[in-house]
Amino acid sequence: MISFYGTTGSGLEATAAQEVSTLGADITRMTKGKVFFLCSSSSCPDLIKLKTFERLFLEVLCAFHEEMEISSIDKLLEEMKAVNWESNLKKWKNCRESAESSPLSFRVSCKVTGQMRKKFSAFHVSKAVSASIQNSTNYAVNLKQPCFEVNVRISDEYITIGIPLTTEPLSKRPYLKHISVRSTICHTMCLKAGISSGMRILDPCCGHGTILAEASYNWPACIYFGLDQDLEALKIASENMQSCKASTASLICGDCARMPLTSESVDAILCDPPFGIKHNCQETDKFLDRFLRECSRVLCEGGTMVVLLGGPLRSSFEMQLETGQGEGEDPGDRRENLRDFPHLVLKETLPLRLGLLDAILWCLSKHSGRGHVT
Ligand SMILES: C[S@@+](CC[C@H](N)C(=O)[O-])C[C@H]1O[C@@H](n2cnc3c(N)ncnc32)[C@H](O)[C@@H]1O
Repeated sequence: MISFYGTTGSGLEATAAQEVSTLGADITRMTKGKVFFLCSSSSCPDLIKLKTFERLFLEVLCAFHEEMEISSIDKLLEEMKAVNWESNLKKWKNCRESAESSPLSFRVSCKVTGQMRKKFSAFHVSKAVSASIQNSTNYAVNLKQPCFEVNVRISDEYITIGIPLTTEPLSKRPYLKHISVRSTICHTMCLKAGISSGMRILDPCCGHGTILAEASYNWPACIYFGLDQDLEALKIASENMQSCKASTASLICGDCARMPLTSESVDAILCDPPFGIKHNCQETDKFLDRFLRECSRVLCEGGTMVVLLGGPLRSSFEMQLETGQGEGEDPGDRRENLRDFPHLVLKETLPLRLGLLDAILWCLSKHSGRGHVT
């Protein structure tokens, strides 16, 4: 088994761990924004196809301060003496689609965060690590176009040295022309919705269509609908659908408060509605009421709705939440549902960060067993 680690958006660690586990990987550790795992060499070529990681690295060295304190550059260089670069490069090449020819060149990038900045300077670490690699190999430094990069991260929790498996982050999808929502979040929304072949999927505020394009590229055998009131945004959504060369989507210009769709006509709703940051509370509440009324109408029984929430819209959603009677006969069987739309039952929440903004994914499903919309 070979050691790797991957970076994720804040909140997506468990989803990424679950995704890499499908390749038979063993998760060894998870920290904020990072997942460490072991993977067999036969599964290595599939790592770069993962969709919920930002970047993936072959682990060259990893030390958590609580287990092994590396408090100076000299100590770091001492630990690096045990690194076999030839062997690491062989493993790294096995994970890549195209193999680089020798002689190899490299560059070191280093980031130091938190209190560690008092002990380490990124410039001096990069220089020392470069010199150490040159001493133990015949690789040359090439700052402009290196064959591989050595990535050093020093935080208050750990020191990692790794070789990125790809030049570009995995989250920068070659098949998406416009990425308006982080692709890893879009993919997580698809996973949470449990998309499978033949499903009818709607994004009622699709904007540039990032969620739809990510979904249709990875689950082409589905039927996609995108709705937005902004015609210019829909033109970009159309470009996104064309660039991912997967199934097409019916893109409709319209109001999500009056969707031109028949009742119970979609199996899943994936949506990143406007957070209401530019609106007052009453406007946001009014939008939410009309949005939910229409979503619950067009969603079929047992269907799933995954919404990305932030700002005032998130607060309005949370105000809607109540604990109600579950499906079973047992009075102790409780469930969380929306007060005004009791058949929309909350299944799961996933707190996330969108840059500086706290956000959350809500996964709801429609169970009309109890309650009705008036
Ligand atoms: C946060 S953006 C969605 C971003 C989108 N996920 C993307 O990939 O670009 C919210 C979208 O909701 C649309 N919108 C706002 N109010 C709407 C309404 N009443 N009906 C339909 N679309 C609406 C906006 O035009 C905007 O494109």
